[in-house]
Amino acid sequence: MKSETKKNTATISNIKRNWWKEAVVYQIYPRSFMDSNGDGIGDLRGITEKLDYLQDLGIDVVWICPMFKSPNDDNGYDISDYQEIMEQFGNMADFDQLLAAIHERGMRLILDLVVNHTSDEHPWFVESSSSKDNPKRDWYIWRDSQEDKAPNNWESIFKGPAWQHDATTQQSYMHLFSTKQPDLNWENQAVRDAIYKMINWWLDKGIDGFRLDAITHMKKEPGLSDMANPNSLKNVPCWDKMMNVDGVLNYIDDMCRKTFNHYDIMTVGEANGVSVDQAEEWVGEQKQRLSMIFQFDHLQLWNEDSESQLDLIELKRIFSKWQKGLQNSGWNALFLENHDIPRIVSKWGNTEKYWFESATALAVMYFLMQGTPFIYQGQEIGMTNTQFDGIDDFDCVGAKNHYAELREQGMPEQEILHLLSKIGRDNSRTPMQWDATEHAGFSCHAPWLKVNPNYQSINVAEQLQDSGSVLNFYRRLIALRKAEPVLVYGEYDLVLEADEKIYAYTRSLDEQQLLIICNLSKESVQYYYDNKALREKNMILSNYTKGLDNDFLLQPFETRIYRLGKA
Ligand code: NOJ
Repeated sequence: MKSETKKNTATISNIKRNWWKEAVVYQIYPRSFMDSNGDGIGDLRGITEKLDYLQDLGIDVVWICPMFKSPNDDNGYDISDYQEIMEQFGNMADFDQLLAAIHERGMRLILDLVVNHTSDEHPWFVESSSSKDNPKRDWYIWRDSQEDKAPNNWESIFKGPAWQHDATTQQSYMHLFSTKQPDLNWENQAVRDAIYKMINWWLDKGIDGFRLDAITHMKKEPGLSDMANPNSLKNVPCWDKMMNVDGVLNYIDDMCRKTFNHYDIMTVGEANGVSVDQAEEWVGEQKQRLSMIFQFDHLQLWNEDSESQLDLIELKRIFSKWQKGLQNSGWNALFLENHDIPRIVSKWGNTEKYWFESATALAVMYFLMQGTPFIYQGQEIGMTNTQFDGIDDFDCVGAKNHYAELREQGMPEQEILHLLSKIGRDNSRTPMQWDATEHAGFSCHAPWLKVNPNYQSINVAEQLQDSGSVLNFYRRLIALRKAEPVLVYGEYDLVLEADEKIYAYTRSLDEQQLLIICNLSKESVQYYYDNKALREKNMILSNYTKGLDNDFLLQPFETRIYRLGKA
């Protein structure tokens, strides 16, 4: 919608009110959400069928991962036509119906904007690769090379060199992701204009915003010289010349001026490499750039050593730094899960003994900070990592490349599979578990990726019936955030900073103050706050049903929310 007609400029405690600050976002990975036509692949009509479920949960905004035409090398993040729907997902009429159905329910829709790269099957790239003097040659990043000598030593984020050699022209094109995802040349104004035209086409259709994929990679360091050490951080290449490089904000500015700023929409950037000190430049109220960014600092605690305990002190430091860093100047996007990382309850929770308690305590921990909370499909029912028997069960292009690389280095098969089962992206991409029937109610056909074997005990149908389920806990949590402006706009302050097991913080707005306490360990822990204030009558939500004890002893993964100040 054009901005002039809809903007709400009121403020709360000096923070500008915006619908997207008050919203709860639900992320859908369309391939795995709901299959309406029985081909084993999720689709747009499947999403439409489930909108009542999302509305009942309290969702305001739906974010759908790419559903555009694509050969699916990276499940839709390789787009071959930005203005067509992927055939497996339906057609434009299905999309229009979905958008209308979302709006009818008072909800909004944001789409994934993947413009760092296209598919190699996009007509722009087909033209660009046809000859050195094709007018679109410069739409992508080509450099002279030889079969066995890439233009520089950069590595792809999906493993292997970041270049693909073309024998006919003796040049290579850059691909920071898979070989089928050539990077667009953002230096070229014609490329930018073509992208803006496409963005405005979608915005004029009435969508409510975008999640901006890989947005910090659009600018590459001029000269494209070698990196000092492309393998500097364990197995993670150093991306300093291809991530958050000086000048990337000029592209964002140009894009905002010519597209986003003319609409009342929300934009959330996938902003790998942006530090908290730089974040205001990206999302500062005065800057007129993005609404919010995803930061990934906390995922660094998510290392490959899966047996290691969560370093809670460090987690608190990271989140608090972002909370304080953007307080009164910008806005955070809050998330623990997405389609690129394993399931949180398997990682930081305890699926053996405290599955319910840990899924709900982790939920409270991140959800009530200042920012817009995102829920990834299945997180609201506590879906867990899955089990794959062999590499053939995997789908993710990154996992397959990783497997090949480690096999070449001589790592035993079982060890690689064990590693991938902990870190693989497919963990979060297994089909949504709707009920206990075959294929988890996702499809009547064997799905494209195996259903998690635990679907008979973890599924939506069962949890809808159970008032003590993870799902109903999420529902209450969402309702609470909506009922309490302090949970949207209130200031965040960390308490019990040195406690290694408890994550606790307050949210304060004018006279109101809430205390959020989460024991993120499998032990019972004693805690001391201003305990006089913590009476049962002041407690507004907990994941344990048994009454409070007088000792201020938190049970394993217990979470409690108290009202300290006036209602
Ligand atoms: C980030 C997306 O979240 C991921 O799924 C994708 O593979 C890459 N960007 C490349 O588009």
